[in-house]
Amino acid sequence: MTSADRPGHLVTTATLDARYLPDVMALVETCAAHDGFDAGADEGFVRARSYPVPPEIARQTADLIWMVGDRVVGYSGTYGFGRDEIEVVAVVHPEWRRRGIGLSLINEAIGVGQRAEVSRVLLVVPRFSVGGQALAERVGAKRSHSEAAMVLRDVPPGGDDLGLGLVAKIANISDVAVLGEIGSSAFGGNPEEASAISRSSIGAIGRTIFLIAKGGENVGMVSIAVDHGAASIAGFAVRPEHQGQGIGRAVLKWLVRRLHGDGIAPITIEVDVTNDRAAGLYRDCGFREDRIYDYLAAAIG
Ligand SMILES: CC(C)(COP(=O)(O)OP(=O)(O)OC[C@H]1O[C@@H](n2cnc3c(N)ncnc32)[C@H](O)[C@@H]1OP(=O)(O)O)[C@@H](O)C(=O)NCCC(=O)NCCS
Repeated sequence: MTSADRPGHLVTTATLDARYLPDVMALVETCAAHDGFDAGADEGFVRARSYPVPPEIARQTADLIWMVGDRVVGYSGTYGFGRDEIEVVAVVHPEWRRRGIGLSLINEAIGVGQRAEVSRVLLVVPRFSVGGQALAERVGAKRSHSEAAMVLRDVPPGGDDLGLGLVAKIANISDVAVLGEIGSSAFGGNPEEASAISRSSIGAIGRTIFLIAKGGENVGMVSIAVDHGAASIAGFAVRPEHQGQGIGRAVLKWLVRRLHGDGIAPITIEVDVTNDRAAGLYRDCGFREDRIYDYLAAAIG
């Protein structure tokens, strides 16, 4: 196929404003209905693109919209967390597939990564998506890791208390350094990068990070993003020297009871498919595996 056969043109925006947001949302819904996935998480992602982008990650963030006439038929979003990589999602309207639009969007997204000078561009592809997997292969992407999205099915019993002498407070900007330390001690990486992730979350619309203390010492953290009544939990970490004492289980049970009590649903959390320990803990707290996403690293030349 040559570019002459490919209909339409690309529009690039830094945030999805009112001109494009409804059409991109409608596109995601159409693709979800066609491909048989739950549009909730993807809609949340797209809606979040209409909020201002923190300056640290502005270079890593782009919305790529494929138009045919005045119709939005394709969309790709790149997003970064202040790390040395960006993640990319893409959808093309079912009636406009196999005409090179997806490939153009992915190549543009790789260009965003090149300009932001990151080492990795990760394509986030649902495991079941034949087109997505084939497109990733076409651009030479290699599997980095896979994550299962887990959804809360059964609310764990218990009261409003965290138990174990634990105290939770909502983190603010003065906590960024300690959040960075906790994050890097639990996930690896350097504390500055981990701090940048927390900094970009604090104050962002719908985002809350809880800092967990025990006996006056900060021992863990957990971050939630709430959008239109649905929540995703991320950045869940307990310092290694405090692991294995039931802190993670107590925090997660407390958090999901609290979110559920506020009428929030669905509640999702993602876990690396090789991380049996975390997945077991999440199951114990009432979560069940939903779909699997492959993270495929594209060659960025
Ligand atoms: C993945 C997706 C965006 C592809 O969009 P598209 O516009 O159809 O992709 P293209 O036409 O540019 O395809 C480029 C190449 O990818 C491969 N490919 C794409 N879809 C394919 C399919 N269903 N079967 C086999 N190969 C496919 C082919 O090599 C194709 O080149 P060719 O048509 O010359 O053979 C689209 O199928 C989609 O929206 N899927 C659901 C969401 C998703 O999985 N997104 C993940 C992408 S990060």
